[in-house]
Amino acid sequence: MKFFIDTANLAQIKEAHDLGVLDGVTTNPSLMAKEGIKGEAAIIKHYEDICEIVDGDVSAEVFSTDFQSIIEEGKKLAAIHPNIVVKVPMIKDGVKAIKWFTDNGIRTNCTLVFSAGQAILAAKAGAAYVSPFIGRIDDTNWDGVELIAQIAQIYSLQGYKTEILAASIRSALHIVKCAEVGADVCTCPLDSILGLLKHPLTDIGLAKFLEDAKKM
Ligand code: E4P
Repeated sequence: MKFFIDTANLAQIKEAHDLGVLDGVTTNPSLMAKEGIKGEAAIIKHYEDICEIVDGDVSAEVFSTDFQSIIEEGKKLAAIHPNIVVKVPMIKDGVKAIKWFTDNGIRTNCTLVFSAGQAILAAKAGAAYVSPFIGRIDDTNWDGVELIAQIAQIYSLQGYKTEILAASIRSALHIVKCAEVGADVCTCPLDSILGLLKHPLTDIGLAKFLEDAKKM
């Protein structure tokens, strides 16, 4: 399973990259706004900066919701760097746009996916990635990881090539569960990635080894 970091914060992207386990980045308008990125020039510059840090796919989301504007915006984003993947919402014009991008050699990440039916549509349109939001599903008292498992089973049975990119990750446990049920990629906040390091027995064991090392 690949690890993407789910942020537009350059320091966090660099920290995850320096750990040596980072395969890519996902952003969304909320994450870009959080970093104070405003206006086309600043957006382009920020994606260039991200692509300089990480040699892997970087999802850049469109703000448009009608077919023609999604195409125009997506073409501009894709032109920034070969690693840019155009992130398109799961709406009717979004699906049409994903098909257009697929036919024109531009890779897409279909976002805001909350059902297996939506994931089938994304795959049929040729999305490179489909992003089911598991944390937001959990928030509604459904099991987001179950959706990942269902999509993984359908994609495997049907031979769909779209990669399942588990999004809206809230914990290290989410990452483990997504790996268990066959997600191809997990996009995670830095804290969840670092959370994988933690185990009290590791801390206790290390403290004892360091203490005994002084006797050597
Ligand atoms: C990434 O592709 C998604 O936009 C992101 O994971 C959504 O996460 P959130 O539900 O924590 O906002």
